[in-house]
Amino acid sequence: MKLKAESQISKRRQFDLIAIPFVDNKLFSHSLVDSINKKLSLDLKKLLKRLDFKGEEGKTEMIAGLDAAAGADILVLGLGKSSECKLENLRQAAAAVAKTAKSRQAKSVLSFLSLVKIKNSAQEMGQAIAEASHLSLYKFDKYRGKKPEASKKNKLQEITVMASSPKDKSQLQAGIRLGEYLSEGVAFSRDLVNTPPNQKAPEVLGREAKKIKGVTTRVFDHKKIKSIGMGALYGVGMGSNNPPVFVEMHYKPKKKAKKCVAIVGKGITFDSGGLSLKPPKAQETMKDDMAGAAAVLGIMKVLPRIQPAVEVYGYVASAENMPGGRAQRPGDVVKAYNGKTIEVMNTDAEGRLALADALSYLTRHRKVDYIIDMATLTGAAMVALGDRITAALGTDESLTQKVIQAGKKTGEKIWELPLEEEYWEGFKSEVADMKNIGAMWGGTINAALFLKQFVDKKAKWLHLDIAGPSRAYKPWPYCPPGGTGIMVRTLVQFLEEL
Ligand code: BES
Ligand code: ZN
Ligand code: ZN
Repeated sequence: MKLKAESQISKRRQFDLIAIPFVDNKLFSHSLVDSINKKLSLDLKKLLKRLDFKGEEGKTEMIAGLDAAAGADILVLGLGKSSECKLENLRQAAAAVAKTAKSRQAKSVLSFLSLVKIKNSAQEMGQAIAEASHLSLYKFDKYRGKKPEASKKNKLQEITVMASSPKDKSQLQAGIRLGEYLSEGVAFSRDLVNTPPNQKAPEVLGREAKKIKGVTTRVFDHKKIKSIGMGALYGVGMGSNNPPVFVEMHYKPKKKAKKCVAIVGKGITFDSGGLSLKPPKAQETMKDDMAGAAAVLGIMKVLPRIQPAVEVYGYVASAENMPGGRAQRPGDVVKAYNGKTIEVMNTDAEGRLALADALSYLTRHRKVDYIIDMATLTGAAMVALGDRITAALGTDESLTQKVIQAGKKTGEKIWELPLEEEYWEGFKSEVADMKNIGAMWGGTINAALFLKQFVDKKAKWLHLDIAGPSRAYKPWPYCPPGGTGIMVRTLVQFLEEL
């Protein structure tokens, strides 16, 4: 499927579906809309009135097979008030258009969504519309034996989005291009999360990282991980026959870089809990435990295509947390890359161990302005914020705010929790520098406090706990149930704005 911006459309051109917004209590007015309306034997505006359609935000009305003369189905999109209309409203409307086109087996669509007057630029609007059009059609069918019947096939080939002028057209087109790159990165991240755990051992993630074009990638195998002293990550992998890997990726812009940022992802390809075994129900979704790594890989795939003027190091700390015969035991002491020793009291608190070595490694070897890690780290984050909101905890308020603001633009919600030092007391160990678990309550804060021990005191660091939004438990407006690719769009937005 392709999206294309046009500022001129011949009245004779045929479309299978026409999407018309309804804003500020009326049907969007445009000469082309009027001429379509004239062809109908029933006046659209009167019809909508009769249907009692008020154009509330998120409501749509499908007008199908009304009149052969119209030659197309019409989808009316409720957008509420234009003064309150945000990019996220456009995304949700664009998703409705793409999904309707698919279910009605339309091949060509004309959309007036891009002409609604909102506060954002034509480029941002084009990007939002392209992202949601593509992502709403995302599916993961690789492991299905039966292919969909022809009668259910998606026939959509092209969505034409209207521009008000040739200048707007080129801006819209530029945005559409960006939206396509972003949605490819998100889809890649979703694919990795959705991949069954028997098909994505840590070494597979290493290979996927190596395939990404435009970045330089190094993969450390388990021997190297052990020999250089990444004892925490190594310990997590001990109970599995699939050895751990550590990945460093590097994107260097052609232009002079304004800033240098490190992004780090938890890459536990399956979290059984290890010897501190999880109950069966809790294991069902634990292939998702590499969603942080999947976000890093998705972002690194997008960067060389959109070429932002920032240098980015991407890290993946990957292991499979299993209870095999050589598995680490509660009570084991491991030594992290920065020399600190950790008493592993609970083998299910493994993500922080993997991240400890990644954070230590980049702290010792790279000088960066910001460090951001992403991890499906604690069930407590879901208890606190549910399955749609990411928890953010960090050492630099301006960095935290930049990422939260980027999330407001992309529609990915982020909420800050306090990094309460008083709770660190809970990590005291009888035998080592720290335990890997803290006191009973405040699990998300505790986990972040643990990670903080592995970055410099002065580092501007932000931890994003994506345990909730890494998976759509029910369909989202432009994401089917399963992996969401959360934080790919938000962190790219953040990097672009630096
Ligand atoms: N991967 C889990 C966290 C998780 C739980 C993510 C549910 C998504 C949904 C993590 O490794 C874990 O098991 N954390 C423990 C920490 C505890 C042992 C201190 C938890 O949250 O229970
Ligand atoms: Zn765990
Ligand atoms: Zn985990």
